[in-house]
Amino acid sequence: MARRSDVRSVPKVFEAYRTTKGKMLYGRIESALESTHVQRIKGKVNLILTSPPFPLVTKKKYGNETGEAYLSWLESLAGRLADLLADDGSIVIEIGNAWEQGSPAMSTLPVEALLAFKKAAKLNLCQHVICHNPARLPSPAEWVNVRRIRLKDSFTHVWWMSRSKMPKADNRNVLNPYSKDMKSLLKRKKYNSGARPSGHVISEAGFLTDHGGSISANVLELETTQCPEALLKYTGTSWDKNYRDYCTERKLVAHPARMQSSLAGFFLQFLTDKNDLVFDPFAGSNTTGAIAEDLGRRWLGVEADSAYIEGSRGRFKLLRDQGKKSGVRPRTRK
Ligand SMILES: C[S@@+](CC[C@H](N)C(=O)[O-])C[C@H]1O[C@@H](n2cnc3c(N)ncnc32)[C@H](O)[C@@H]1O
Repeated sequence: MARRSDVRSVPKVFEAYRTTKGKMLYGRIESALESTHVQRIKGKVNLILTSPPFPLVTKKKYGNETGEAYLSWLESLAGRLADLLADDGSIVIEIGNAWEQGSPAMSTLPVEALLAFKKAAKLNLCQHVICHNPARLPSPAEWVNVRRIRLKDSFTHVWWMSRSKMPKADNRNVLNPYSKDMKSLLKRKKYNSGARPSGHVISEAGFLTDHGGSISANVLELETTQCPEALLKYTGTSWDKNYRDYCTERKLVAHPARMQSSLAGFFLQFLTDKNDLVFDPFAGSNTTGAIAEDLGRRWLGVEADSAYIEGSRGRFKLLRDQGKKSGVRPRTRK
């Protein structure tokens, strides 16, 4: 497959590959939504997990729209994406921060995009989650490293939305390890109960039950020791390194804006069960599909750049290689 620099020229939709649990489509989401591959999953998707092309202020890296045109483009997809959801399904969208070209001012486009999308899709906002990655390199370089007048940008917004006010979700699937203090409290079986200045009244036994871990906060620091145990295998760099090695060996362009594997793992485990169906309309290197496969969820991905699709095959090669060792393996077919 040839490298395309502008995804607006991609003509039609076809199946690029499939695995035991899923299918990757090559084409633009606008066309994919009309295809039988996608039409047949209408009302059946338990989770749409995606990071859309960023609302770049001027650069057209993926051939994506900018400014007002970006807003109308995203808005035009909103209702059709929401129609794919099961009644208790969710949409989780990760949007990074954007900066105005040549100035230390932040663009409000990411937030405007969210509002436009939510309104057009008639969705409820379940929660705003911040995905903090302290290991990010300092940027935007001019204002952070050179002139030293801005702080480094180290988080992305993750917007969790749903059709119903009570979508399927279980925070027990993404528990954090208990802190040292909490572990000793559970051992001691005693703490200072009673009223707090905040007005909360702490009962005598309310904190003495071991629930297996603490409830995750809506600020995620997925690469730290406080990472939910369920995600440990997706943290660190090995998942990503294997993907990059695969691309380098084959002289393919590694995707420049991949979702953190642990972020995908977090929402897949929080909001879906085994065999549920997950959809990513802007799949890129197919982080969503690969983690879904590993977790036993069915998946469908759409990506308009053939080079990224080629690279994404590597994620499944890795799963197959791991499977050979453990005896469980996803099948991929060209
Ligand atoms: C931010 S990236 C997604 C990265 C992905 N989450 C990952 O982990 O690799 C957005 C992707 O959307 C793709 N894209 C842009 N316009 C598209 C369209 N109209 N239909 C389908 N994909 C599109 C881009 O090629 C890009 O790979």
